[in-house]
Amino acid sequence: MILAPLRGVTVRSFRKVFSGPLAEYGFTEAFTPFIAANSGVDPLKDRELKPAVDDVSSGRLLVTPQFIGKDPAALKFCLQRIKAHGYKTADLNCGCPYPMVRNKFRGSGLLKTRDVLMRMIETGCDVMGAGAFSIKTRLGVERTDELLGLMQEINRFPLRFLTVHARTARQMYDGECDMQAFSLVASQSAIPLVFNGDAAIEGGRVRFPQEGIGDVQLADVMIGRAFVRELSKRNDIGDLLERYILESIAEFGSDRAVLGRMKELLAYWAVFPAWARTWRIVKMARSVEELRMIIAHRISPSD
Ligand SMILES: Cc1cc2nc3c(=O)[nH]c(=O)nc-3n(C[C@H](O)[C@H](O)[C@H](O)COP(=O)(O)O)c2cc1C
Repeated sequence: MILAPLRGVTVRSFRKVFSGPLAEYGFTEAFTPFIAANSGVDPLKDRELKPAVDDVSSGRLLVTPQFIGKDPAALKFCLQRIKAHGYKTADLNCGCPYPMVRNKFRGSGLLKTRDVLMRMIETGCDVMGAGAFSIKTRLGVERTDELLGLMQEINRFPLRFLTVHARTARQMYDGECDMQAFSLVASQSAIPLVFNGDAAIEGGRVRFPQEGIGDVQLADVMIGRAFVRELSKRNDIGDLLERYILESIAEFGSDRAVLGRMKELLAYWAVFPAWARTWRIVKMARSVEELRMIIAHRISPSD
């Protein structure tokens, strides 16, 4: 399984602190949240990749840097930098659904500019090499058949795989995944496919949404939010949270940024009755010390 990139959540420190649970659940790879591929900006200075050395040499979890952008020259520069630093794989974000991103023809907006998309893919495959570059996308922007219409051209490239979040960009994260539309893409894809969207982990097995994927052959499954939610149920979550706080303090220095990051994570757990009340108090915490007290109170031995 591949850990989905969740900006602000599955960040570098998260991947480090939760590397044990990630391995336990069977994750072998993680995408970084997207890094902007802008000309002249060194990706190795990005918080996600700096210092890159422990990603490259950790050997436990393959870390695939993900880029967002629409300038092939800028992408080339970024990929050359990370490759020279030892990264073996990279991904292009063709799925970000936010209107301010997609209206500028980045993220899912790339599906609307066929030529640019193909040049970005070509650049990625050229620089990283055959079987080392991938794209992560949605079924379409407005309709579920837009990716399908691009498959013939996408099939021409030696992509590592194609990750499809089985929703349209317009859906954002609402409504259901369209499993039929996903199957149609699969039927037209010559590229290994990775399913993404609302997949859950139950009793050590992956559960796909709705009717499942039928007889579609997958290269892998990418899971994000379900893994983050699962963490809340662990007996050792108190210790893990404390380590995450310490790691984040070392990274940011400032209380506010650490608090913001922790709240972003804990918000995922508010769906569980055991955390719902704690979350209402956590939301009001004004310092890391307050947050620690709330968590310690919640995770008492008598709990
Ligand atoms: C808070 C948040 C941040 C995200 N950041 C990224 C990102 O940086 N790059 C990306 O390709 N997808 C991003 N996504 C989409 C997820 O990677 C994934 O496609 C989506 O959550 C569906 O998978 P899931 O149901 O397993 O979580 C983000 C989603 C959320 C909710």
